[in-house]
Amino acid sequence: MSFPFQIQSYKEYVSAYKKSVEEPDTFWNEIASHFLWRKQPTKTLQWNFIEPSVKWFEDGELNITENCIDRHLVDKADQTAIIWEPNDPAEKNRKISYQELHIEVCAMATVLRNHGIKKGDRVCIYMGMVPELAFAVLACARIGAIHSVIFGGFSAQSIADRIQDAGASAVITCDGAFRGGKDIPLKSLVDEALIHCTTVKKVFLHQRTGIPVVINEITDVFLDTEIKNIKEGGHIIYDAEAMKAEDPLFILYTSGSTGKPKGVVHSCAGYMIYTTYAFVNVFQYQPDHIHFCTADIGWVTGHSYILYGPLCAGVTTLMFEGIPTWPDAGRFWNIVDKYKVNVLYTAPTAIRSLMLAGTEPLKNKDLSSLKVLGTVGEPINEEAWHWYDENIGKKKCPIVDTWWQTETGGVLISNLAGITPARPTYATLPMPGVQPILVNDQGELIEENNVNGNLCIRFPWPSILRTTYGDHERCKQNYFSTYPGLYFTGDGAFRDENGFYRITGRVDDVLNVSGHRIGTAEVENAINMHPDVVESAVVGFPHDIKGQGIYAFVICDNELSEELDTIRKNIHDTVSKIIGPFAKPDKIQLVKGLPKTRSGKIMRRILRKIAEGALDNVGDTTTLLDPGVVEEIKKGRI
Ligand code: WTA
Repeated sequence: MSFPFQIQSYKEYVSAYKKSVEEPDTFWNEIASHFLWRKQPTKTLQWNFIEPSVKWFEDGELNITENCIDRHLVDKADQTAIIWEPNDPAEKNRKISYQELHIEVCAMATVLRNHGIKKGDRVCIYMGMVPELAFAVLACARIGAIHSVIFGGFSAQSIADRIQDAGASAVITCDGAFRGGKDIPLKSLVDEALIHCTTVKKVFLHQRTGIPVVINEITDVFLDTEIKNIKEGGHIIYDAEAMKAEDPLFILYTSGSTGKPKGVVHSCAGYMIYTTYAFVNVFQYQPDHIHFCTADIGWVTGHSYILYGPLCAGVTTLMFEGIPTWPDAGRFWNIVDKYKVNVLYTAPTAIRSLMLAGTEPLKNKDLSSLKVLGTVGEPINEEAWHWYDENIGKKKCPIVDTWWQTETGGVLISNLAGITPARPTYATLPMPGVQPILVNDQGELIEENNVNGNLCIRFPWPSILRTTYGDHERCKQNYFSTYPGLYFTGDGAFRDENGFYRITGRVDDVLNVSGHRIGTAEVENAINMHPDVVESAVVGFPHDIKGQGIYAFVICDNELSEELDTIRKNIHDTVSKIIGPFAKPDKIQLVKGLPKTRSGKIMRRILRKIAEGALDNVGDTTTLLDPGVVEEIKKGRI
């Protein structure tokens, strides 16, 4: 398959960009015409960023899985759609052709249907990185159920929060998940979560690790047995649900600066068209590409660039169950060598941790198949960029630094591999259809270059979030109210003399730890659940591998009931239980007071300076209620 919208030169990029701004309807209609529709749309875009309301191709009808699977059965039924590499390299891998994917997805969809799951129902998916996870996501999309994938590292409490917020009627899970040397008991965490959830009627269980599980006769369904029976009995329903363009495709929860995570909602058509458009252009699609995105499907990167983007484009996508450092730090390179991977898309955190392992793990690994490298999720530092370029790409592979967010659905700012110029640590230029601007704190447009500002987007692209589930006002407040009339990303950026953007990091209270988004408020709420804790404040600090680490300043009761080390450990346990182990603070400092203004607001700016070690540079403390606390906190810094 070829995509006439694939940009082949810098000149073409410039003219595509110009057209996308001057004639957005014509531009996107042309692109949309290369997808498979049940009913061709006649409308293109209606929008305002005040309500906000965005509708793309509103009267069109489609099913995304027909674009991901059925369409390829004509010319590439036997091509591998998904390569699955297990956690343990000694275990047999799996290669699933487009034909097989069609059967697997339709079979699972049939089981879901047989148990009453229908269009519009919310289904939570809590699984490890197994092929059945891909089938589950696509099976939901096939029948029009709205999937909400929950990353396998989240705690029972986080699962419960997400199930309740979405009012999910079903959960698809595994007995356990293998990750490196660990066997994580997923089903028992789901069981614990369900104690508090009344909406869930069915729990579909795929057996992966063999860890013992408790079976609830009323709710639990043995997925593997039912699929097998359906395949053998020949009663697979192949029909896909015809979805309206603006029907929700999925919900994905993500952290913001306040309150609990919010359910970002993406629509069927806009999401499909934009993520695929970006996939084809950023990675410079070739029909025979083996695409290895190392993210987890629990995050948006996995949704868009392991599943939907690559499958819509019809390449071979590689799904890896394990982690980069197990059994050793050569695992990614083994995989690249074993499958002759062409595109490697990973996070700066992974690059930095592999860089630490040196070049020894690269010995005797043939990486010559690589053509394009990519990074995503957090700013990349110069050193990691050059290491990646020299040792992995051997200076022959363009590196795409792709900036985007759960809310944006697909990549918005990135160089196009080998087509538009790269600059280390810069995401560079916007994709066609994307109109970024910088504003100052007063919301005034900054027109000059060589400046820092708050990154906003002033025009909708097809895969912009449509709402936050169940609470449209929250969507408006979070993204469209800070600077009225603009979508505010929450990121700061620098724009250089060429108009290239360099993302400098979050300007709100969101942390980015190893590429995982975590709200400081979420971590504080979790810490405050510890009975000895009176109050806490959490900030990020620069961390060599994780990008950002979590530093918690905690006030405890005067009468400490436990030793300090025990308190620290208990705080860790509490955070693991409430959010998940990945949100545990790296540093916990017990303090007597926090720097607050007279109105009671915590001055995080000061805490951030202390956490990063800039003790002589904490700024003005005269407006504080008690400036003395700052000296005390400085002294106790760890
Ligand atoms: C950050 C991940 C610098 C940014 C796709 C954004 C980046 C947040 C980059 C979204 C990049 C993502 N350079 N920072 N190339 N890509 N970010 O929702 O702060 O998990 O707002 O989506 O990651 O994280 P999310």
